[in-house]
This record gives sequence, structure tokens and C-alpha cells, in this order.
Amino acid sequence: MKPSILILTVFVLLLLLQTVIPHNYSDALHKSILFFEGQRSGRLPKQQRMLWRGDSALKDGGNLNTDLVGGYYDAGDNVKFHFPMAFTATMLAWSSINFGSYMPANEFRHNLGALKWATNYLLKTVSQLPHRIFVQVGEAQPDHDCWERPEDMDTPRTAFAIDAPGPASDLAGEIAAALAAASIAFKQSQPEYSKLLLDKAIQTFQYADMHRGSYYDNPNVYNATCPFYCSNNGYKDELLWGAAWLRRATGSDNYLEYLVNNRETFGVDYNYLDFGWDSKFGGVDVLIAKEVFEKNVSALSPYKDIAEKTICAVFPETAGPHLSYTPGGLLYKPVACQLQSTAAWSFLILAYADYLSKSSQQLSCGNLKFQPDSLRRIVKRQVDYILGDNPMHLSYMVGYGDQYPRQVHHRGSSIPSVKVQSNAFGCQQGWEIFHSDNPNPNILVGAVVGGPNVDDTFIGKRTNATDTEPTTYINAPLVGVFAYFSSNPNFT
Ligand SMILES: *[C@@H]1O[C@H](CO)[C@@H](O)[C@H](O)[C@H]1NC(C)=O
Ligand SMILES: *[C@@H]1O[C@H](CO)[C@@H](O)[C@H](O)[C@H]1NC(C)=O
Ligand SMILES: *[C@@H]1O[C@H](CO)[C@@H](O)[C@H](O)[C@H]1NC(C)=O
Ligand SMILES: *[C@@H]1O[C@H](CO)[C@@H](O)[C@H](O)[C@H]1NC(C)=O
Repeated sequence: MKPSILILTVFVLLLLLQTVIPHNYSDALHKSILFFEGQRSGRLPKQQRMLWRGDSALKDGGNLNTDLVGGYYDAGDNVKFHFPMAFTATMLAWSSINFGSYMPANEFRHNLGALKWATNYLLKTVSQLPHRIFVQVGEAQPDHDCWERPEDMDTPRTAFAIDAPGPASDLAGEIAAALAAASIAFKQSQPEYSKLLLDKAIQTFQYADMHRGSYYDNPNVYNATCPFYCSNNGYKDELLWGAAWLRRATGSDNYLEYLVNNRETFGVDYNYLDFGWDSKFGGVDVLIAKEVFEKNVSALSPYKDIAEKTICAVFPETAGPHLSYTPGGLLYKPVACQLQSTAAWSFLILAYADYLSKSSQQLSCGNLKFQPDSLRRIVKRQVDYILGDNPMHLSYMVGYGDQYPRQVHHRGSSIPSVKVQSNAFGCQQGWEIFHSDNPNPNILVGAVVGGPNVDDTFIGKRTNATDTEPTTYINAPLVGVFAYFSSNPNFT
């Protein structure tokens, strides 16, 4: 072989190698769970691994004479919004239920730990049922007016509550879903805890169904929660979502009847392309489809039919409405923090693929048929995009690989750690850090940020929350997705 040909051959081989080396999905799984430790509120346990964080918000609930210490900050701020926190818990539980068998034992345990940090707190939010439910701790506007570490907070830590008969179907429906889903996730390892969760889920759902309406109908709550986490699409999806999880957790026909009787009037047939912290419809359909696949419960089959339409929408060649893709291949729905939508959809598609496989079926979209692996390939493309196979050559997961966002929109991550600098940074002092071009001193390992624009571009400044803010509900569905690929790293 001539030297030039040899060099060329080696070069081509290297190029090939570069494209076939799979991502380290185990690493991504590990980090996606670790991220939740960076979001913890309350007193940190001895096992805390993300060491730059300290205790925070140890008096939460005080203004209402209750204990609301703990839980998660939802994103880059320091408010505890119970509505998205509950959705996060539901998705961590669903990740464990559907994809836990793909996780190594230690990651399975850590994921349950992340879930329990949420559910221990959610139990506090419903501790005064049947008459009172706690909505949120912290005031969005004053909190957002400061750029402070959680450990330093001197902003109002007002807790908000709704009292019967005030409506709270969306909030209570989601908390019921979270507790019911978690009761399934903990059933084997912690049966007593599981039973407690289920009892509380049932009681919380009663509140949701009995006092119908949106939690932000309450003007105090409206001011505290909106425009951040108003349930814009209404509360009926959460009622079905709560009922669907309770049906799964209890097997009771009461919930089956509820799902059958309310399907049409609650609008399932129209909103099936939405899934995220606000709208649960897409999730309801896929969740219920499992029972139809496994037991052919004909009363529920309309939900499965809609789930099929939902999943068919990801294939551009099918008839009917579609999700779109960026030129670089990312599933794209125009929402703030794009990757939340990609993450939630990836979860649904992968869950559906498993239901198809286990029942030896394929997806039918009119005349077109798709094998379960066709669904998985779409999800793998999403995951690989997130981990760096994208036009920016950037991992959107912080701390994964060498190239990732350094200016994450996150108060705790961007201000020096309390462990390094114990003196408090004031509310205003933090803004200098916010506007600086310096990388964050604390790596919020595993955080998946809001992500790229519709044309695959990403600037990555801390000042742009849409781009660089992580949220707990981006990561929660991804835990399940990474678990699948960590156990099937060579899937193509
Ligand atoms: C994947 O990452 C883990 C760390 O999470 C590391 O232990 C392992 O060696 C990596 N695997 C490969 C194939 O690089
Ligand atoms: C909500 O905020 C508006 C505008 O700041 C204010 O006028 C109104 O009084 C507030 N409502 C309550 C119940 O605090
Ligand atoms: C499911 O049940 C319906 C009637 O309840 C029946 O027509 C259909 O053949 C069944 N499908 C399967 C796959 O068993
Ligand atoms: C944030 O960046 C996106 C592009 O990724 C852009 O569309 C948006 O206008 C930016 N927002 C602000 C507040 O600069």
C-alpha cells in the first residue's frame, strides 16, 4: 500500500469510528439522576453527592404553621411550584416503572431516592386534606427580582394554600397522579410507604374531582403562580391523568368508569399532541393504552386509538397532523425550553414501542405499518442529538462530554458555592454574576438545559432562560429514556 493510501485508509477508518462509537448512555443516565440533588430544597442528607449545595429554606411553611421543608426548586430559580414538581415526580415514577428494569441496581436506587425526595414533600402538601392543599412556597416575582443562591435567600418564603371548596383540580389531579405512580414504583421495595402514598393519592383525587376548576381561579394563587405555572390548558387533563394512574395503581373499576364516562367531554380526542407539565393528554392516552395492549379492555380502547394517532404523528410520512423536526433532526414543538417537549415525547414513543414489542404488534398508521424499532430509532436520534450529535456539536446535558453549556441559567450553579464562600451574596450583588461572561463555578452535573432554537442554533448565554435554564421536568422523562439505551447501547 502506498503511504498516501495508507494515510487515507486510516483517516477514513477514524472517521467511521467516530460516527459509530455510541454515546455513553450509562454516564448520561447516572448524571440525569444526579442532577436532582442540585435542585434539592431543605436539609440535605449525609448521602448528598452534589457537594457544592447546602441546606436552604428550612422554615418553609412557617407562615401557615405547617412544615413545608424539602422538595425541589423547579428550575434556575428558588420557588417551589408544586404543580410542575408533582409532574416531575410522576415522570420519575413512570421512568422507574417502565424502564427501571433497564437500570443498574445502584441507579435504580438513586432514581427512587430522587423520587422519594419529591414524594416525601408532596405528602406534606396534602397533609391537611380534606380541607386544605398547599400550592407553592415562595413568591415568583420577588424571587425573580433577585439572583441569589438558595442558601442565602432573604426573599419572602410565603406558602400558599387552597381551602375547600376552592377549586384545584389541576394541582390536586397532578399530585394524585404523582402519589399513585410512586405507589407503584415503591410497591416492591417499600410496601408500607407505597400504601401510604396510595391512600393519599385517593384522598387527593377526591379533592380534585369534588372541587372542580383550576387552582389559579383563586386570586392569591393567580398572583403567585401566573404567568409561570398557570395550567393554561385547563384542569380536565389532570383529572383524567390522576384517574388513569389510580386505575393502574388500584385496578379499581371506579376509575375505569370515570375514564370511560369522561373521555369525550374532557377533550381527549382533540389535544392528543400535547404532553408536558401543562397538558397531560398525550400521556393519558399512552398510559391507558398499556392496559388495552395487555388485557384488551375494550371500554378503554378509544384511548389506545388516540395514542396510536399520537405516535403516528412523529412519522412525517403518515397522514394527519404531525410533529415537526428541526433541520438537524430534533423533534420540535414551539414551546419555551424546547427540550422539555423533546424529552416528554421521547418518553412516550419509547414506552409505546415497549408496549408494541411485548404484545408482538406493530404500529398501524392508516396503510403504513411501523415496527417498534422504528419508534426507538426516532428516540435514539433525539437522545444522540441531546448528547452532542447536533449542528452545534454541543451536549445539552451539563457535564456530559467536553462541550456543554457553561453559563447555565441557574442561581445556585452560577454563584460561588457556600462551601467556598460562606458570606451571603445579596439579592442585587448576584446580578453582576448573572450578567458576567464567566462560566458557572459549580457544575450542575446532568442538567439538560432548555436547548436550541428551531433552526438548531444555540447561543448559550446565562441571560437567556429559554436557552440555558434546566428544569426538573426536562430531566425526569429522560431518566427512563437514558435507562433504555444504557441497557441497549448498540441499538441502531
Ligand atoms: C461511561 O461512563 C462511566 C461513568 O459514568 C464510566 O465509568 C465508563 O467507563 C464509561 N464507559 C465508556 C465505554 O467509556
Ligand atoms: C394581584 O396582583 C394585582 C397586580 O399587581 C393586584 O392589583 C391585586 O390586588 C393582586 N391580588 C391579590 C389577591 O393579591
Ligand atoms: C379484543 O376484544 C374485542 C371485543 O371485545 C375483539 O373483537 C378483539 O378481537 C379482541 N382483540 C384481541 C387482540 O384479542
Ligand atoms: C433567547 O434565545 C433565543 C434563540 O435561541 C431567541 O429566540 C430569544 O429571543 C432569546 N431571548 C432573549 C430574551 O434574548
